[in-house]
Amino acid sequence: MRRIVLAIGSLLLLGVGACSFLMPEGLVVRGPMLKSMLGLGFDALTDTLVAGRFQVAPGFRVDLFAEGVENARFMRFSPGGDLVVSQPRVGQLLLILGDRDGDGRSDGQRILLDGLDRPHGFDFRDGHLYIGEGGAIARIPFTENGPDTLEVRGPAIRIVEGIPEGGNHWSRTLRFGPDGGMYVHVGSSCNVCEEKDPRRAAILRYEPDGSGEEIYASGLRNSVGFDWRPESDELYATDNGRDLMGDDFPPCELNRIERGRFYGWPYAHGDNHPDPDFGEGNEERIASSTPPVHPFRAHNAPLGMTFIRNPSAPDSIRGAALVALHGSWNRSRLDGYKVVSLHWDARGQITERDFLTGFEIEEDVIGRPVDVAEGPDGAIYVSDDYSGAIFRIRVGAAADSNVARNPSASPPTLGVVANPLAALAPNERASLVTRGEALFGTNACGSCHRANQAESGVIVKPLEALAQRYDLESLIRFLLTPTPPMPVVDLPEADRRALAAYLLDQHP
Ligand code: HEC
Repeated sequence: MRRIVLAIGSLLLLGVGACSFLMPEGLVVRGPMLKSMLGLGFDALTDTLVAGRFQVAPGFRVDLFAEGVENARFMRFSPGGDLVVSQPRVGQLLLILGDRDGDGRSDGQRILLDGLDRPHGFDFRDGHLYIGEGGAIARIPFTENGPDTLEVRGPAIRIVEGIPEGGNHWSRTLRFGPDGGMYVHVGSSCNVCEEKDPRRAAILRYEPDGSGEEIYASGLRNSVGFDWRPESDELYATDNGRDLMGDDFPPCELNRIERGRFYGWPYAHGDNHPDPDFGEGNEERIASSTPPVHPFRAHNAPLGMTFIRNPSAPDSIRGAALVALHGSWNRSRLDGYKVVSLHWDARGQITERDFLTGFEIEEDVIGRPVDVAEGPDGAIYVSDDYSGAIFRIRVGAAADSNVARNPSASPPTLGVVANPLAALAPNERASLVTRGEALFGTNACGSCHRANQAESGVIVKPLEALAQRYDLESLIRFLLTPTPPMPVVDLPEADRRALAAYLLDQHP
C-alpha cells in the first residue's frame, strides 16, 4: 500500500501527473490491505508476528514483552531494577512490571506519574526522578522497596523552566553523566535555519539542582540519544541529518561530544559538507566544526542509544553501543527501522552491524524502534512508538522464534484492531468528518500529505491505515505531539477531534 502511494507521489513530483490507482505490474498487495480486500480479520501484535518477522543477532532471541503502550518512547531502569517508559503524547511515565511469573511477558503496567507536559527523557539520581518536559525539567522524590514497588512522592517540582520548546523537535532527552551533571538535549526548531535561541540544536548541562545552565555542545540538529562509553567516560550522541536533500544525503551522525565544541548544523553536514542554503559565507564556522565519528545512512533517524555495561554480555555485544534507528519517511525506499550495534576497534574505528531487524520488510512497517535499555539481568529492551510495544532480547536459542524467514513468503503484518469510529452516532460522525475535512484544508495539511496539493519539490507523506495504530483519542493527542518533521497542530481539542475523525474516516 505504502509503495503504491509512494510511487504515485513520486510520479507527481516528477511532474508526470498521470495518476490513477493503477497497480504497477508485479506489485504485491499484502498485509492489512490484502486482508481488508478479502474481508479477513486482522492481527494485533502477536508472538507469531514477532517470531515470523524479527531477526536478531546470533545467540539471542527476541520476544514481545509488553504491548498496548501508546507512544512508548524513552526507557530507564530505576536503581532497584524497575523498568519505566515515557509516553510524551499521553503526558505520563509508565511502570512496566517485571516478568515475575516467568511466562516471558511483563506482568502488567502501572502509571507512575501523569499530568506531565510531553515527558520524554528521564533519569534517577539520589532519591529523585528527573524528567525532561517540553520546556522544563521536573523533579520528584521516589521510593522503592523490592521489585515493582517504585513510587513517586509528593508533587513534581519544575527546577528549570523556560527551555525553548515546540517547533519541529519538541522532545527533550535528559540523562545524568558520570561527572554528576544533568545533560539535556534541545533539538532544532526547524529542518534547517539559524536559531534565535542559542540553546536550540544543542546539548545543555546543569547541576542536579537545575542551576548552572551551560551550552555544553552546539550545532547538533536533534541529538535525541546519548550515552557515555563506560571505559572512557566519553560522551557520544546520535544526530538526525537534515531533510530535503535527496535519498542519500546527508548522513545521520554519531558524534563524540566534547565540551564547548560545535558540530556543524545548520552550516555543514557529515564531513563538513557545506549546506546548500547556509554554507556560503560561513566557511570559518564550517572549518571549526567537528565532523561525526560515524555516519549512519541518510534518514535512518538514530534515536536512543545505550552502551552495553553487563560484564557477562556475550562477546558479540560486550562494550558495544546499541542504537535504535527509527526509520525514514522521505526516501523513495524506506530505510532504517532496526536496532544496530556499534563496535569500536583498538584504533577507535567504529563498525555498524544489524542487531534487530524486521520492523520494516519490503516497505511494510509494523514498528519503529525508539530506545534501547539494558536490564539489571542483562536482557535488552527495545521500545517501539509505532506499534506501542516493548520487546525483550535475551541470550538464548532462537528456538521457535526468529527462524530464518523464507524470503519468498510474505511476512506476517500488523492489522486493524477495531473500527475506532464505531462508538460515534452516525450524524455525529458525519458532522465531525465534514468539519475535519474543512480544517484539513484551512490548515494546509494537504501541502505535505496529498500529492495533488503539494508544491513541487515537497516530498509527500501519504497518510494510510491510521486505524491500525490510532484510536480517536490517541490521534487527537498525536496532533499536539507529532513525529518530526510533522508540525505541531496547535488547535483547540474540538478541532483536533474533528480532524482526527476525518483522518480515521479517510484512512482506515
Ligand atoms: C510540513 C509538512 C507537514 C504538514 C503541513 C502536515 N504534516 Fe502531518 N506529517 C508530516 C510528516 C513528514 C509525517 C511523518 C513523520 C514520520 O512519521 O516520520 C506526518 C505524519 C502525520 C500523521 C501520522 C501518520 C502515521 O502514519 O502515523 C498524521 C495523522 C498527520 N501527519 C496529520 C496531519 C494533519 C491533520 C495536518 C494538518 C493539520 C498535517 N499532518 C500537516 C508532515 C506534515
